[in-house]
Amino acid sequence: MRDPLGLIRRGLERPTKIPRYLWGLLVPSSRWGPEWRRRDGIVLFEPGGYAASPRTRPEFASNLYHEVVGLWAVLDEHLECDERPETSLEVGCGYGRLSPWIARRSETHYGVDPDERALGIAATQYPDLAFARGRASSLPVPDGAIGLTVSWTVLQHVDDSRIEDAAAELRRVLAPGGLLVCCERVRPPGDDHIWPRSVETYERLFEPLSLRAAYERPVEPTWNEAMPTDRPAERVLVFRAP
Ligand SMILES: C[S@@+](CC[C@H](N)C(=O)[O-])C[C@H]1O[C@@H](n2cnc3c(N)ncnc32)[C@H](O)[C@@H]1O
Repeated sequence: MRDPLGLIRRGLERPTKIPRYLWGLLVPSSRWGPEWRRRDGIVLFEPGGYAASPRTRPEFASNLYHEVVGLWAVLDEHLECDERPETSLEVGCGYGRLSPWIARRSETHYGVDPDERALGIAATQYPDLAFARGRASSLPVPDGAIGLTVSWTVLQHVDDSRIEDAAAELRRVLAPGGLLVCCERVRPPGDDHIWPRSVETYERLFEPLSLRAAYERPVEPTWNEAMPTDRPAERVLVFRAP
C-alpha cells in the first residue's frame, strides 16, 4: 500500500465504501479482492480482474463498449484521414478483450502478453488474430516495425525497476512517425500491483516521442458506483514518434 493516508482520507470521505473494501481484503476471490498475483516480477490477472469496475454482465458489456468507443475516438482524432498503420501491436493484450477492435484499425495486428493462460483464451476466441508471448521489456518485434502501439492498463502494472526497459522497448519498436496510445494510472491510489506515474513521467520515459494529448479514461456511466474514487485515475496518453 503506497498511500495509506490517502486511503484513510478516501474512506472518511466515503464511509459506505469501507465494508466492501474490507470484504475485498478478506475474500480475495470477491470482485473487490486482488484478482491478480505476482510471478517472476510480472503482475498477472484472473480473467475477471482486467476491468475492475463492472459488477454484472451488462456492466461488463457497457464497460467494453465505452472503452472501445473512447479508444476509437482517440484513433480517429490522431490518425491522419488516410493513415492506416501497416502493423499494430497491443502490449499486454491479456485475453484479447480489446484485440479485435485495435486489429480493425491496421492491416496486421499482434497481441503480446507474458500470461500464457490469457494468450490461450485470446487465441481461442480470436483465431484470426496473432498472439505471442512476451513482456513489454523484451518484445518479440523488430526495430521500427510498428505503426500503432496500444498499451491499455499495462505499464501501470510494471514496477519501477522494469519501467525504463519497458519504455525503451516501446520506443524501439515504433516506426518513425508511429503512434503510441497508452491508458495508465497517473495519480494515486497505487498499491503493490499498481504503480501510478504522472503524465510528465511518461513524457520523460517516452522521450523523444512527443505527447499529443491526454484524455480521461473512458468508462461506463455507472463506473463511480463501483469504484472507490469519483473519477478514473487513468489517462489515455497519445504519443507520436519523430
Ligand atoms: C489489467 S490487464 C489489461 C489487459 C488488456 N490490456 C485489457 O485492457 O483487456 C494487464 C495485462 O498486462 C499484462 N502484463 C503484466 N505485466 C506485463 C509486462 N511486463 N509486459 C507486458 N504485459 C504485462 C498482464 O498479463 C495483463 O494481461
